[in-house]
Amino acid sequence: MATGELTQTNKTMTLKLLIWRQKNARSKGAMVEYTLGEISPDMSFLEMLDVLNDNLIRRGDDPVAFDHDCREGICGSCALMVNGAAHGPDAGTTVCQLHMRRFRDGDTIIIEPWRARAFPVIKDLSVDRSAFDRIIASGGYVSVNTGGAPDGNAIPIPKPIADQAMDSAACIGCGACVAQCKNASAALFTSAKIAQLALLPQGQPERARRVQRMVWQMDAEGFGNCSNEGECEAVCPKEISIANIALMNREFIIASREGK
Ligand code: SF4
Ligand code: FES
Repeated sequence: MATGELTQTNKTMTLKLLIWRQKNARSKGAMVEYTLGEISPDMSFLEMLDVLNDNLIRRGDDPVAFDHDCREGICGSCALMVNGAAHGPDAGTTVCQLHMRRFRDGDTIIIEPWRARAFPVIKDLSVDRSAFDRIIASGGYVSVNTGGAPDGNAIPIPKPIADQAMDSAACIGCGACVAQCKNASAALFTSAKIAQLALLPQGQPERARRVQRMVWQMDAEGFGNCSNEGECEAVCPKEISIANIALMNREFIIASREGK
């Protein structure tokens, strides 16, 4: 490796972090300022928070609570507003895949939890997303016996339909769509989960019942209505299309007309 590259990699940053701290669901919470040095541009955003937490623990302070698991963009656990954008500044990227090279030495970074009534804060940056689990439990499954995997694979499905269903199934349930929407609508998440089943033969027996139950549950959880802003699609790390929302609305109207 050339010496120049080594110098570049070894450069560290000092950042000002403004982080939402909240003891529990009932306490009030406030933004707290931290100065953090020695941050390598090669670190991920969550590794940067790990460094902060190590420092806080060493000096006897409470570490910042935040959700994470796979740290490779597939589980949907990580959830942070970074400078007002769900998952931060990179399109099609979860915050666990965001790197500190995206920021500059001396930057101020504002870090907040998802903000939505249906996602109450548990502590600091961690929110309760069990409303999504209840939407899935209301109908996001197939209960027909589809047989073993070879039987399933033997069902001929046109490639464009298979691709569309696969694109919808890419949703990782992170909730960024809700967090960025001014209405805190869960329409993108719910519609992706409806579409992935409505498009495939296995999803047909429960198709009408599924869309009704999932939409009713979405409303009961306190998510807002979709007003076609497109903010959800813009921040979705899996680039789920708002065409799914149009599909959900069509499915819901047809199911209601048929009185299913
Ligand atoms: S639609 Fe996108 S932003 Fe919303 S939960 Fe699924 S992956 Fe996350
Ligand atoms: S931690 Fe799994 S997607 Fe970010």
